Amino acid sequence: MSVNKAHPSTSVFKDNIFNGQVVFITGGRSGIGYTVVETLMRHGADAVIVGRDAKGLQESASALQRATGKRCIAAAADVRSVPQIQAAVAKAVEVFGRIDFVVCGAAGNFLAPIANLSENAFRTVIEIDTLGTYNTVKATLPHIRKTQGAYLHISATLHYRGVPYQAHVGAAKAAVDALSQVIAVEEGPRGVRSNVVAPGPIANTEGTLRLVPKGSEDLIPRIVPLGRFGETIDIGNAAVYLFSPAASYVTGSVLVVDGGEMHIRGTA
Ligand code: HXC
Repeated sequence: MSVNKAHPSTSVFKDNIFNGQVVFITGGRSGIGYTVVETLMRHGADAVIVGRDAKGLQESASALQRATGKRCIAAAADVRSVPQIQAAVAKAVEVFGRIDFVVCGAAGNFLAPIANLSENAFRTVIEIDTLGTYNTVKATLPHIRKTQGAYLHISATLHYRGVPYQAHVGAAKAAVDALSQVIAVEEGPRGVRSNVVAPGPIANTEGTLRLVPKGSEDLIPRIVPLGRFGETIDIGNAAVYLFSPAASYVTGSVLVVDGGEMHIRGTA
């Protein structure tokens, strides 16, 4: 039984709080990243979405514009490529003249026991999640310093314990959390903030589809203290808060949005 519902809208925040500001997001084409950028746009931001699938990105950018009335451009790039991510940043600045918020959301995931995980498979996820975050931060930092903007890294909770078949993702996300803390400490004096949002089981996302075995979907609402899967809007709302002036004294933090799931023992 679902006892708690996601907040139906983001109306607790003013519609225009991000007017005139620009978000640059990797992994914004679909899933959690899509809802995060949509939610920021619904609160006034223009957006640049970055990913590998040029056609899919363009379709998502058009859909985001139609849904929100704000501007959204697609910049095809693989976060593992420094020249490609630099070109995406240059396009963002050329079109919008500024970047205020960066969401590092590009991630790879699949289930594989460490005994069968090839070196290339491990490296691939580390390169997308961790190196991709580093590349994105390095390419955007000069612009974020100018606007005294903020970073948000989409991490996970699976590295707080040993989640089976997730050695590659757990290691990658632990490193992302560490990067965010260092950015917070080094860049705080320049007015730049960096935070992490750690989603738990979010319905209809690639991560959950891959991690929750088919047929056992009913288990999540029964074990999660808040009695339901999360929804992508739960992460969108967290992003709005963390980028908003309401979080102006929040940096180096991890905001876990998981319905309390991480506090249940033995449910990984
Ligand atoms: C074992 C696998 C594999 C699998 C790929 N590999 N998929 N190994 N099981 N299912 C191995 C390949 O065999 C290869 O190693 C290496 O990984 C690289 O694979 P490629 O396909 O060449 O890489 P690439 O095209 O760059 O991208 C692969 C990928 C992609 C990024 C891993 O398949 C992928 O993950 N897509 C899904 C994206 C996604 O789900 N994003 C949301 C993440 S959610 P060998 O040795 O054969 O060369 C998330 C949050 C988690 O991260 C928490 C949720 C609760």
